[in-house]
Amino acid sequence: MTLLEVRDLNVSFPTADGVVRAVRGVSFDVAPGRTLGVVGESGSGKTVLTQTLLGLTPGAEVTGSAVFEGTDLLELSDDEMRHVRGERISVIFQDPLTSLHPLYKIGWQISEMIRAHDKSVSRKDAAARAVDLLRMVGIPKPETRANDYPHQFSGGMRQRAMIAMALALQPRLIIADEPTTALDATVQAQILDLLLRLQQELGTALIMITHDLGVVADIADDVMVMYAGRAAEKAPKREVFYAPHHPYTKGLLESIPSSKAAGGRLKPIPGSPPSLINLPSGCKFHPRCGYVFDKCLVEEPALHPVAESGAHLSACWLPAAAAGLSAEAEELREEVVAAERGADAAEVAAAAQAELGIAAHEDGHGDGHGDATSSAAADNEGSVA
Ligand SMILES: Nc1ncnc2c1ncn2[C@@H]1O[C@H](COP(=O)(O)OP(=O)(O)OP(=O)(O)O)[C@@H](O)[C@H]1O
Ligand code: SF4
Ligand SMILES: [Mg+2]
Repeated sequence: MTLLEVRDLNVSFPTADGVVRAVRGVSFDVAPGRTLGVVGESGSGKTVLTQTLLGLTPGAEVTGSAVFEGTDLLELSDDEMRHVRGERISVIFQDPLTSLHPLYKIGWQISEMIRAHDKSVSRKDAAARAVDLLRMVGIPKPETRANDYPHQFSGGMRQRAMIAMALALQPRLIIADEPTTALDATVQAQILDLLLRLQQELGTALIMITHDLGVVADIADDVMVMYAGRAAEKAPKREVFYAPHHPYTKGLLESIPSSKAAGGRLKPIPGSPPSLINLPSGCKFHPRCGYVFDKCLVEEPALHPVAESGAHLSACWLPAAAAGLSAEAEELREEVVAAERGADAAEVAAAAQAELGIAAHEDGHGDGHGDATSSAAADNEGSVA
């Protein structure tokens, strides 16, 4: 059964400089109790994608559908959407202060939210429920701390309070948008543990937006890698870490500062994401791709299955067998490059290498950091087990 079914979602913003194509043809499903990790660099459309589902992108041109519990969210009136937001789907933002009012006590804010959605709940019962929620998210002495103002809480405690607020109405889906980015590593780990535990206890589905594959390794069941407003790769988590197909996913893995990869072998992705007003031709990743070949410059690959299960999808022209971090997979990628890279693609590849400050190889593509990648993946998967 699917809780949320998004199909061919497109979101554009008309601006004075041109149309910003923030999300292009994105489809995905979220099942009850599952976690979808949405990962990608800054500006890849992660926030716009989820805000659009909640009617929070005013001025945007939106097409496609987003069916949640049988209703297309994109067709709801503002009034109907207000009932979905908070009650059925709630959001946790990176900065809790965008959601917590600085001038009201935390307990009061939670209990008022409960009462705003259900007038039949008495003030006393709502206040008691707020204290219970604060206890559930690990706030010590919740009876007393419920009377604190947000500034009296530490960053980690504020994020816990946000989670309490997000859970208050027992939503079926929580969207967490970079919820731990502003926190130090220890607090980040505690908050992720908390989310995971609560999700398992309550059976809530979760969309976790992050630029950090480490967070995805800790928490996700399925992963969607976004690049320039599109899904570059979609797969169950293990396949993303052990058998990435899209060179962008591989690049993200190689740039994880894991202990082994950081031992001099860390390999950043050259260049930066493209302008969403003037997108490159063909595959939108081609100016940064170490495997770019001629077809990539002119035709944009659609997301298609690259494994027999049908659950692993990639939007890349490399053959399906070129998935993974093994020497064989790297060899296959290099064979394709050798056979199909002409002068134009060679020039693009050389420019990317020059950007990295690395002397371009004769054929202009990368030198296969399979080992470093495997260790990055292994380290990250290690933290899941
Ligand atoms: N209201 C708007 N008008 C014009 N462009 C917008 C608007 N909102 C977002 N964008 C653009 O849409 C693109 C995608 O933005 P989005 O915030 O979804 O990225 P993101 O993946 O969440 O990035 P980050 O990791 O930095 O949060 C960006 O180029 C952004 O500038
Ligand atoms: S190999 Fe081609 S299609 Fe695949 S990511 Fe690189 S540029 Fe895009
Ligand atoms: Mg964002």
